[in-house]
Amino acid sequence: MSQEQLRPVRVGLLGIGTVGGGTFTVLQRNQAEIRRRAGRGIEVAMVADLNTDLAKQVVGDAAQIVADARAVIANPDIDVVVELIGGYGIAKALVLEAIAAGKHVVTANKALLAVHGTEIFAAARDKGVMVAFEAAVAGGIPIIKSLREGLTANQIQWVAGIINGTTNFILSEMRDKGLDFDVVLKEAQRLGYAEADPTFDIEGVDAAHKATLMSAIAFGIPVQFDKAHVEGITKLSATDIRYAEQLGYRIKLLGIARRQAAGIELRTHPTLVPMRRLIANVEGAMNAVMVQGDAVGTTMYYGKGAGAEPTASAVIADLVDIARQLEAAPASRVPALAFQPDELSPLPILPIDEVVTSFYLRLRVADQAGVLARITSILAEQGISIDAVLQREADEVSGEGGNQTDLIILTHETKEGAMNTALAGMQALPTVLAPIVKLRKEELA
Ligand code: NDP
Ligand code: HSE
Repeated sequence: MSQEQLRPVRVGLLGIGTVGGGTFTVLQRNQAEIRRRAGRGIEVAMVADLNTDLAKQVVGDAAQIVADARAVIANPDIDVVVELIGGYGIAKALVLEAIAAGKHVVTANKALLAVHGTEIFAAARDKGVMVAFEAAVAGGIPIIKSLREGLTANQIQWVAGIINGTTNFILSEMRDKGLDFDVVLKEAQRLGYAEADPTFDIEGVDAAHKATLMSAIAFGIPVQFDKAHVEGITKLSATDIRYAEQLGYRIKLLGIARRQAAGIELRTHPTLVPMRRLIANVEGAMNAVMVQGDAVGTTMYYGKGAGAEPTASAVIADLVDIARQLEAAPASRVPALAFQPDELSPLPILPIDEVVTSFYLRLRVADQAGVLARITSILAEQGISIDAVLQREADEVSGEGGNQTDLIILTHETKEGAMNTALAGMQALPTVLAPIVKLRKEELA
């Protein structure tokens, strides 16, 4: 069949908020260019949004507008349903109903896929339809396609990324401008970066959703958000950001997935990264993902991780992929999770105690002879080697008298379980005067 004979792909958009609006606008603006690439037109035929007045403002008369998303799914003329509502509730029901109705699905909803992906991908496989989700990880950066296709020759060793713009924006603004956490969070919400519930951003849940999706594609394992280790930035103190800088490190919220012989590390937490690494210099709402493969070495992908048009760029890339593969037999399409569904690896997600990393510790201690020796001997008992020690003089320790000091210790790599045992021993010392701060450190070499 020649390209001229292919009818346009008909799209139904569910939700015309930030990303839905961006998707509609970019598709309209670049339709000729997109058609040249896809080999056929991609037309938004229907838009569903609870707020039909808003939808009318964005779409005008260019598509049919309905309040009921199920009317889109029920329309036999719609080929692809684009879910841009968000959340696990109605979005899950609509995605499963669209699949059951034989529609291909595009979604930016990382929360939905990280938690219910196994069910959704299985339903799509049974029905022979595609589920595409480039926009779900790192917004406009084509990291899903890179992992799934561009790096397909490699045994991936690790993936580590700044994959939440809101928290990177908060950390950058707090450090550079000395602004308060709450002020910066409000600005991130105003700019449209933050999730509807910003707790997901600041507690690391959004980044963990994205890391979970990348782990599945990188290692050929099921989507297992329930086994991910998740820590956000709400407990991070300005003191540790400052000490880290003095030691040559920046603190970034990283989502990490790493292959070990015994299993896969899947973790999201604030992480010290050497200042000289490119990724340590990714500021504001920008995202960056590093991927290490055995053949390619270390690669890095950088760009806007949120916002209307950057995210639309990813949604539309998925629509073009679907348009190109629409007539292909399901078995010959690119698998949604990169690996053939019956070729998944049994490697488990490792418990956090089995994770291997290096650490930053901050201990408020009595400034007296023998304290450091006792602490280092507890670390040595667990086989933990020290990389660097910084002591802040008593008069630099805010709000305290002259008989206390901060000890900052950087360690070499060890299992987290060994570190936790050592921490319990150190915390029990009478000369350790406050809860010890523990942060993880990655060299990303
Ligand atoms: P918005 O809240 O801006 O848009 C969601 C839209 O869906 C709203 O207009 C909302 O209407 C509408 N809606 C809610 N319920 C229904 C329903 N039952 N039927 C039809 N429409 C409904 O969200 P975003 O555009 O920011 O996010 C959409 C998805 O994209 C989420 O999964 C998000 O995580 C993801 N994403 C967002 C990014 C961003 O930069 N914003 C980046 C990457 C991914 P109303 O307002 O009236 O409730
Ligand atoms: N809330 C997300 C962020 C949006 O801040 O990165 C993009 O997924």
